[in-house]
Amino acid sequence: MRARVETALDERLPVVINAPTALHAAMRYATLDGGKRLRAALVYAVGEALGAPDELLDVPACALELVHAYSLVHDDLPAMDDDDLRRGRPTLHKAFDEATAILAGDALHTLAFELMAHDPTLAVAPAVRLKMLAILAQASGSQGMAGGQAIDLAAVGHTLTLAQLEDMHARKTGALIRAAVTIGALAASSPPSLLTHLDDYATHIGLAFQIVDDILDVEGDTATLGKPQGSDQERAKPTYPAILGLERAKLLAREHHASALESLAPLGDNGFLLREIADFVIARTH
Ligand code: IPE
Ligand code: IPE
Ligand code: MG
Ligand code: MG
Ligand code: MG
Repeated sequence: MRARVETALDERLPVVINAPTALHAAMRYATLDGGKRLRAALVYAVGEALGAPDELLDVPACALELVHAYSLVHDDLPAMDDDDLRRGRPTLHKAFDEATAILAGDALHTLAFELMAHDPTLAVAPAVRLKMLAILAQASGSQGMAGGQAIDLAAVGHTLTLAQLEDMHARKTGALIRAAVTIGALAASSPPSLLTHLDDYATHIGLAFQIVDDILDVEGDTATLGKPQGSDQERAKPTYPAILGLERAKLLAREHHASALESLAPLGDNGFLLREIADFVIARTH
């Protein structure tokens, strides 16, 4: 899946020889050759579980990874987390400059919607395409990822309740993960009865994913993570280990993992890849 989305992204990102060359180089730098591709993998895994051909899933997989890549570029900016390392390389504003990083984020964001709007390989009915676009927009915006990032920044140095922390995580990380699963399911013409179960699965792995991200910021090491260990503590970020302690944070991640697996029961054997992804979310070291 990783190889597949890499090729699909490479084919759709603007080529560097076309102007503005620095912006195009920055877009490619931020997107290609890195990342776990969790969101793309979810699109493919859901689609495959429901019998969709991969050709139909490439554009949704690319769109999710493009929005995600943009969110990371902006997340690392000095005005936000001010980090220098991402995916084992200098962050975009370090490798290029801040203005280029802001613009590359903007352009990656809009490229995602351009592809979803009219890439011909997404051969679905116009009404389905519109629904997918609306889901991606909502998951990215002030009720989703961008809103979660705003809550994250506003909470620096303050103590959040567990409910507030979960709400923040559900938005900043969970929303795009849920969108990946629902959009993949829509591409595969999912029976409506399955959508709720798949969304429950996505909600749980979305929370587990960000809890583990917070834990790895404490327990991981920079070389393996490919991003600076200790960044959250340094910036007094609201995180699960900060509020619950490491052991309870780990327990909660395992509980979400178990609930995610339960939600997959209606898929039977076809849920194999989605179960593997849930396991990966818990076991990952980067
Ligand atoms: C990092 O996401 C930011 C969060 C939402 C936790 P990933 O851990 O998925 O980043 P990449 O794509 O693998 O680099
Ligand atoms: C970022 O969360 C979530 C996004 C929407 C990008 P973090 O700030 O914890 O992500 P990392 O740890 O820098 O990857
Ligand atoms: Mg952040
Ligand atoms: Mg960050
Ligand atoms: Mg983090």
